[in-house]
Amino acid sequence: MTTVKFDGTPAGKVLVVGGYGAVGAVVTAALAEWFPGLVVPGGRDEVRVRRLGGVRVDVADAEGFAHALDECGDVSVVVLCVEPPDAGIARICLERGIHLVDVGATPRLIDAVADLHDVAVAAGASAVLSVGVAPGLTNLLARRAHEAVGGAERLDLTLLLGSGEQHGGDAVRWTVEGLAEPVTARPRRTGLPGYGTRTAHPFPFSDQHTLPRTLGVPEVTTRLCLDSRPLTAALFAARRTGLLSAARRPGVRRMLTGAFRRVHLGGDGFAIRADARSGDRRAFWALTGRGQGRITGLVAAHVTRELLTGTSPTGVHHIEQLPDLSGVPETLAEHGVVLHASGLPDRSPGR
Ligand SMILES: NC(=O)c1ccc[n+]([C@@H]2O[C@H](COP(=O)([O-])OP(=O)(O)OC[C@H]3O[C@@H](n4cnc5c(N)ncnc54)[C@H](OP(=O)(O)O)[C@@H]3O)[C@@H](O)[C@H]2O)c1
Repeated sequence: MTTVKFDGTPAGKVLVVGGYGAVGAVVTAALAEWFPGLVVPGGRDEVRVRRLGGVRVDVADAEGFAHALDECGDVSVVVLCVEPPDAGIARICLERGIHLVDVGATPRLIDAVADLHDVAVAAGASAVLSVGVAPGLTNLLARRAHEAVGGAERLDLTLLLGSGEQHGGDAVRWTVEGLAEPVTARPRRTGLPGYGTRTAHPFPFSDQHTLPRTLGVPEVTTRLCLDSRPLTAALFAARRTGLLSAARRPGVRRMLTGAFRRVHLGGDGFAIRADARSGDRRAFWALTGRGQGRITGLVAAHVTRELLTGTSPTGVHHIEQLPDLSGVPETLAEHGVVLHASGLPDRSPGR
């Protein structure tokens, strides 16, 4: 599919679904600056959509979504900034030869879209999954650490999130669902640049599910902590007691999501660290930034720009599988993202 005209501008529009949410608004704004007049925000709120010159879409209504695409006209890329119930929306896009960028973080949904690889190839479309901070930047740093040890036997990924950040509703819902899932790995103490040594707890981020396949690393675990030490301790103590497993029930989930959205105890900084091990070889990469929702949106915008103007292969790929996207962390330097370490032998704190 040709997405760029001879003068370098994209041949079609970009539909940003969830385009006025915490992540989507950043995607919409960044892309509108790069491709003026071509970005269409989408969502369910008729009034907001009309005010923004967007289109009404509901990812729970596949038929309606197909009509919305017709209404938009010539769409080159759909950026999904809200989780649909299944891979139906992705299928509609890819069958039409429309590229897809998906910031989703749920393994079941990511796998269902990955299964559409042949559909995408047949239609000449590309889809990029694992886009954002975690998954996203975690996958890219994991790849660097993996390569630094000449092929890791084990990867440990750590994410610190700012509990003072105004996280979007859909992101908080996802986190609450994650707290209700059973735990298989153990907590780990890790040195995070600017935050000292922290205890991080296993959390069901999709990167640990994807990386064994994309990098061939047998063991991958992702862990989470918050910038507030007391809040981290309280949250994971509640999980240990089984208190949070009630979040599997929709009513409890809604109540907890509302409560967590009102808690603002820390700052808006975040940190990622990817540790790789192979025999006695160890390496790590780490980065820090502010506003993980904002940075997720910027990563998605960069990936979309690459799909529109680059030469991405057709099919469904995770971010770490596309060499042209390996430099995304460096492009975020102007937005305050700092790479704190390189793939050097690990003599960092926390060991
Ligand atoms: N990969 C990463 O690192 C990463 C990081 C952060 C977030 N995320 C993911 O990004 C997604 C968005 O998070 P967020 O913080 O931006 O959430 P948010 O602020 O709640 O935004 C969600 C947006 O989607 C729209 N929306 C909700 N349900 C919809 C539906 N059925 N059909 C169409 N639009 C719908 C909402 O508007 P209306 O309600 O008006 O429709 C809103 O604009 C979440 O799935 C989250 O898990 C990923």
